[in-house]
Amino acid sequence: MRAFVLDGYGATADHVRLAEIADPAPGLEDVLIEIHAASLNPIDFKIVHGDLKRVSKYRLPRPFGFDASGIVLSTGARAIRFKPGDAVYVRASRETIGTFAEKIALPEKLVAPKPAAISYTEAAALPLVGLTTLQGFARVKARAGQRILIHAGAGGIGTFAIQYARHLGLHVTTTTSSKNVDFVKSLGADRVIAYDRENYLEAGGGYDIVYDTLGGAFTVDAFKIVKRGGAVISLSGPPDRDFARREGAGWLVRAAVWFMSRKVYAASAEAGASYCWFFTEPSGDQLREIAELVDRGAIKPVIDREFAFEQLPAALTYLEAGRARGKVVLRVK
Ligand SMILES: NC(=O)c1ccc[n+]([C@@H]2O[C@H](COP(=O)([O-])OP(=O)(O)OC[C@H]3O[C@@H](n4cnc5c(N)ncnc54)[C@H](OP(=O)(O)O)[C@@H]3O)[C@@H](O)[C@H]2O)c1
Repeated sequence: MRAFVLDGYGATADHVRLAEIADPAPGLEDVLIEIHAASLNPIDFKIVHGDLKRVSKYRLPRPFGFDASGIVLSTGARAIRFKPGDAVYVRASRETIGTFAEKIALPEKLVAPKPAAISYTEAAALPLVGLTTLQGFARVKARAGQRILIHAGAGGIGTFAIQYARHLGLHVTTTTSSKNVDFVKSLGADRVIAYDRENYLEAGGGYDIVYDTLGGAFTVDAFKIVKRGGAVISLSGPPDRDFARREGAGWLVRAAVWFMSRKVYAASAEAGASYCWFFTEPSGDQLREIAELVDRGAIKPVIDREFAFEQLPAALTYLEAGRARGKVVLRVK
């Protein structure tokens, strides 16, 4: 089969290449999927640049990519949830990445039936951003009536999170550039702060939850606008102090995490609000929940741009520019 492989860490142009490799062989509990579409996420180019090599030790060359939709070709002897011909979608685990390829074999517990009402392209756009948001909101017990600030409402995460927060009954404020104000309002945002016209730190605070997708100063500053007893969920800030334990890391990593997160924890203590950071986990069961929301019309996938399979390097470069409105998807079949 054809697959994009990563053959070293560094620039996309130097290390991402299209190769002919052996078809994956499904294990006992796996399903073999013929991929129709795969979506890109910032973690893909971060992996290419080697930003995650301390936490995910990959043997290169290898295929990569997390999100896909497609059709089940065959199943392992102990896989019972799917049969050949089923339309599915999936987010691979960090250990099993490889969706920028014509086929992938994955444990059936990671896989779910594709939402019936949408195309393969749209389905591929959902898994990673959807699972991240469901898991983040569950960690802080997000509930109706709360006020949330979602940073970067026009991005892959933001476009899903605005719709999901509204579905749960939260009041949504989001940040974006002024060109995307109407776009994020159309997704359901109650209040929009255009960052090129208004400083969000001077636009009121008292949020129950701040969903920080931007990292850097945005993570520490989230504690200036979250209310006492509230929560900051960060996807791009420093790991939280429980991260090393969850990853089973040794004392050196624990010490590094403690050091990297010291400013965030000082701000969190001063504000009396909690800090949470996590790596998204794959889950077929949560993808079933997302499919139900999509089929009921509560969530609509948002596609910024589709690229042909052979154009993965260009698609990664496009996403990395940081201006995508929704998701960037690769047409594989
Ligand atoms: N920890 C985890 O497991 C996990 C999981 C998922 C994602 N993440 C991380 O979360 C981050 C966001 O992911 P994503 O998929 O949403 O990225 P993305 O789709 O590439 O985000 C692009 C969007 O960011 C907006 N943006 C850029 N700068 C902004 C600013 N200063 N204020 C407001 N909006 C801004 C842009 O809108 P404008 O053009 O209007 O500025 C654009 O629409 C990434 O760093 C990713 O790696 C982490």
